[in-house]
Amino acid sequence: MKITPSGRTLGARIEGVDLSTPLSDADFRTALRALGQYGVLCFPRQTCGVPAFADFARRFGELEINVANLYFERDFPEIMILSNMMGSDGKPLGLNDAGQGWHTDMSYSKDIALANVLHAQKVPMRNGKSLGETQFRNMHAAYDELPEEMKAKLEGRSATHDFEKFWEVMRTRPGSRRAKLTPEQKAKKPPVSQPLVRVHPLTGRKVLYANPGYTMSIDGMDELESGLILDYLFRHQERADFLYAHHWAEGDVLMWDNIGTVHNAVADYMPYEHRYMRRAQVMATLDYPALVA
Ligand code: OGA
Ligand code: MN
Repeated sequence: MKITPSGRTLGARIEGVDLSTPLSDADFRTALRALGQYGVLCFPRQTCGVPAFADFARRFGELEINVANLYFERDFPEIMILSNMMGSDGKPLGLNDAGQGWHTDMSYSKDIALANVLHAQKVPMRNGKSLGETQFRNMHAAYDELPEEMKAKLEGRSATHDFEKFWEVMRTRPGSRRAKLTPEQKAKKPPVSQPLVRVHPLTGRKVLYANPGYTMSIDGMDELESGLILDYLFRHQERADFLYAHHWAEGDVLMWDNIGTVHNAVADYMPYEHRYMRRAQVMATLDYPALVA
């Protein structure tokens, strides 16, 4: 297994592994450490099918079955489909607007995610360039670069995150296929409190855990101050030196850290420019400090 860092704030390529067969224990631990260190890992040219992809992802923690998941690979409800393609029956094959806005997967959930894993089956291309990049921001760096006064203000604080916040932003966009969340869906994902600063289980370092997609307000703080601080934090995250973009190629398996990064899907392609991703959300269910020790 060969790891080549991007040389930027996030990102590394891992070559010399075939994900259609299980990782050795040593490679698994190396990949986990790399996930903490680089935040976004690309395993290029992977040809594994759905079962092996699911097995690979499951190695890192239990897979989530999304509350709003209408689209998944046959017999694999834990493998979601993100796509703008239509089936031969004229019905959508996948969720066509996933992640279009800065967010952290599962921050709205009591049980948070360690990582998301996407396997690119179809990548839109125009004039020889791939479209639909995925952008990331480094929340280890964002925390480190906060002014000391702000670090002190955030220490020990929590914020409320709500699944419906991002859902409604997406649902009310022109052309959205999303329906209002049902009371049952809402009951399954009620708003939750999350620490604003958390110790990353892979690095042992502090990260800023707040994102514009789901974070509503800082608990126990008056509304005005909470709004000002969150607004400040979201702008701080936008610093150019925290940004990394992944430009997709078909066959890429991309695994990203969902504790130490925020991400955004860039929708710069048209409905006839086809994108198809398999997706596995890895919940943080293992003893990661022990695994990377
Ligand atoms: C996701 C997501 C981004 C993309 O799967 O949670 O945000 O580029 N995807 O598809
Ligand atoms: Mn996402």
